[in-house]
Amino acid sequence: MNTEILPYSGESIIKAAEIIKNGGIVGMPTETVYGLAANALDENAVRSIFEAKGRPQDNPLIVHISRMEMLRPLVREIPEIALKLAEAYWCGPLTMIFPKSDIIPDVTSGGLDTVAVRMPESKAARDLIDACGLPIAAPSANLSGSPSPTTAKHVFDDMNGRIPLIIDGGFCSCGVESTVICFRDGKIHILRPGGVTAEMLSQFAEVEVDKAVCAKPAENERVLSPGMKYKHYSPKANVIIVDAHGESFADFCTSHKCGKTIALGAGVEEQGIFIDYGSTPELQAQRLFSLLREADENGADIVYVEMPTRDGVGLAVYNRLLRAAGFEVVSPDD
Ligand code: TXA
Ligand code: MG
Repeated sequence: MNTEILPYSGESIIKAAEIIKNGGIVGMPTETVYGLAANALDENAVRSIFEAKGRPQDNPLIVHISRMEMLRPLVREIPEIALKLAEAYWCGPLTMIFPKSDIIPDVTSGGLDTVAVRMPESKAARDLIDACGLPIAAPSANLSGSPSPTTAKHVFDDMNGRIPLIIDGGFCSCGVESTVICFRDGKIHILRPGGVTAEMLSQFAEVEVDKAVCAKPAENERVLSPGMKYKHYSPKANVIIVDAHGESFADFCTSHKCGKTIALGAGVEEQGIFIDYGSTPELQAQRLFSLLREADENGADIVYVEMPTRDGVGLAVYNRLLRAAGFEVVSPDD
């Protein structure tokens, strides 16, 4: 199969919708990361997503909608707080978990009795969902385990020959995947941090962050979000988080060079091994996955990354980095 890349336009959306309505998969831009889009209600289509990604069967997919009316048939119940959050943050990078209705196949929900739903902000994504007239299952469009794609080229690099079409909607403004939440005891429980931050959610209810967000789940521990237990976002290079800033970070990286070494600093001047990964959490979120992919293209052995802040979108950056680094954090004082 040849994989075609077409720029986002009325015509390319019609072509993509035809493929999806016939049970196929398309690379779809969103404001977070690119997704692999298929009909969420078609078991075989969803199975082929798992195949294309090499994804474990028990890791459920997010179902994407373009209008509020599309939510009701997918779920058994919509809590009051979900309606308030939808009003505030949909369309946008927020995924909410609901008890699933019978029309959601078990393959889509990874065998769980819940379903994750989000309404993306990206116009290209919403046009595509509208043109299909279907809820769209879409995991990030990377091979399972590798960094999520934030450009059409990233999708092509992983999916060439596996899917017929990628819609090129340019770069992703958010750059990390959506915030995933569920509701527990009247609280908002964050399973995966993202563009809609804990601070933003706390205006609506008490917020708790799942312990798997910043820690490695123990072997065989039951996690609320199956995606948390898998090795993720990992380039081939050895990623190590350095718990230091400014000169102390720079000195550590310079004195611990080993093979081809890259050092991603927050707002650093770019020279030698140093590359700027952004002076704010928003910029870091936009650039992180792309820089991890570039590190591999440049044959890096080691990638040191300056510890990000955990405020706002910084928590999402930290969560992805921890997994990319296999939870390896070093401190120059050790
Ligand atoms: O921003 C995003 O959410 C992107 C774009 C393409 O929309 N999609 C995305 O999908 O990141 P994926 O499949 O890479 O990540 C979905 C995450 C996984 O960690 C999965 O375990 C969790 O959401 N998830 C999905 N359904 C769930 C459910 N019913 N209960 C708990 N976690 C769920
Ligand atoms: Mg993913």
